[in-house]
Amino acid sequence: MFITFEGGEGSGKSTVIRELAKRIEEAGREVVVTREPGGTPISEKIRDVILDRSSGEMDARTEALLYAASRRQHVVEKIIPALKEGKVVISDRYLDSSLAYQGMARGLGMAEVYELNMFATGGLEPDLTLFFDLAPEEGMERIEANPNREINRLDLEGMPFHQKVRLGFETLARENPHRIVKIDASKPLEEVISAAWAVVGNRLRYR
Ligand code: TYD
Repeated sequence: MFITFEGGEGSGKSTVIRELAKRIEEAGREVVVTREPGGTPISEKIRDVILDRSSGEMDARTEALLYAASRRQHVVEKIIPALKEGKVVISDRYLDSSLAYQGMARGLGMAEVYELNMFATGGLEPDLTLFFDLAPEEGMERIEANPNREINRLDLEGMPFHQKVRLGFETLARENPHRIVKIDASKPLEEVISAAWAVVGNRLRYR
């Protein structure tokens, strides 16, 4: 089972992933937790290039191609082998992030970025996606209040960009109701964890 967590900046998904991975393991399944961009040594190197704050002049298509290249390596080196071994794979971001950030917010077009990513992934789509929905203003406030969170190049984009990212995810959730479940990330952490576990635990029982 391949589960992805998606959403804007500061939505708290990384914290929730850690808690859910623990619960899935307690339920007797092996879990691989990974993230994008990154997850393998090559993909992490590409991540550094993309997110470096000095990469300010990066062209939008270059950005989309680098995310897709990083994803390709991640899929073949880590995700597919783990799925073949029967593990539950949880990825902090995947394909939908490219559709929302590069497709919608950068204006490259969601259909175009989807096509590029089909080449990259060979068509591997998640079984389940949790979309952590939060007003971008609140997300950015949380990031600024967290001294441990590094501010990357995309965090530096203005509010209109982050509004478009949210619109992208909302569009995807509407178009893929069987795969994408929206979680209200404005609620207190404990409630968000309960809501996410209700969805993931329920799906796993049917596997
Ligand atoms: P990261 O620090 O992992 O952010 P977060 O904690 O919010 O997940 O940085 C990843 C950044 O890259 C984030 O701003 C979202 C962006 N991104 C894309 O624009 N396209 C993509 O395909 C992916 C995977 C991430």
